[in-house]
Amino acid sequence: MSRATMSNDDRERWNRRYREGAYLGRTHPSAWLVESLARLPAPSDGARALDLACGRGRNALYLARQGWVVRAVDISAVALEALREAAEAEDLRVTCGEWDLEASPGDAAGITPDGPAQLALVIRYANLPLIRAMKDLLCPGGVLIAEMHRVTEQDVAGPGGTRFRVEPEELLAAACDLDILHAEDGHYGDPDGKTVALARLVAQRPG
Ligand SMILES: C[S@@+](CC[C@H](N)C(=O)[O-])C[C@H]1O[C@@H](n2cnc3c(N)ncnc32)[C@H](O)[C@@H]1O
Repeated sequence: MSRATMSNDDRERWNRRYREGAYLGRTHPSAWLVESLARLPAPSDGARALDLACGRGRNALYLARQGWVVRAVDISAVALEALREAAEAEDLRVTCGEWDLEASPGDAAGITPDGPAQLALVIRYANLPLIRAMKDLLCPGGVLIAEMHRVTEQDVAGPGGTRFRVEPEELLAAACDLDILHAEDGHYGDPDGKTVALARLVAQRPG
């Protein structure tokens, strides 16, 4: 199957899932995001953050409430519309962009038209070329917070098969242009009671 066909399939699949109500109840921000942000200095006025593969935007909304100016990107127009409405209702600084991060993970001008950001999130979305592109999406000193489902033998929640899972070493290798501040992997309990296998890191663009 060609890359373009795969992307169209992914777009339709995700739009269908969101129309059917996927993740409607998942409004809590990522625990890894909350924990990692607490270790970082508070954002300066107007500091910009990217939420890449944002979905309905639970993490983008959380960041905007903390004072970040957020650019949220996803392949699903349905999810982005839900995020736009939620951000408007709270008068939060969030702009949305529909973008295929698999077809064009390194197109900084398309992903972040206002220039490199101080913070980037990639939460529960496996895309190693996107991690390799962080040197172009983050400004010097900018921080990446990433969390991807990891390969596991155990029966856990999240994507079946391995296409949307990574080995922890692959995530670390993809971040080789960045300084790793924290990394961990294992099995974790989500607030909905499900167990997930995750690889996590916080890394900083040097400079
Ligand atoms: C499991 S959800 C995670 C959403 C959000 N990061 C969160 O933590 O709630 C994965 C997201 O990846 C998005 N996605 C899948 N393929 C994509 C692609 N090629 N480009 C951009 N986004 C994509 C989906 O639309 C979906 O919103």
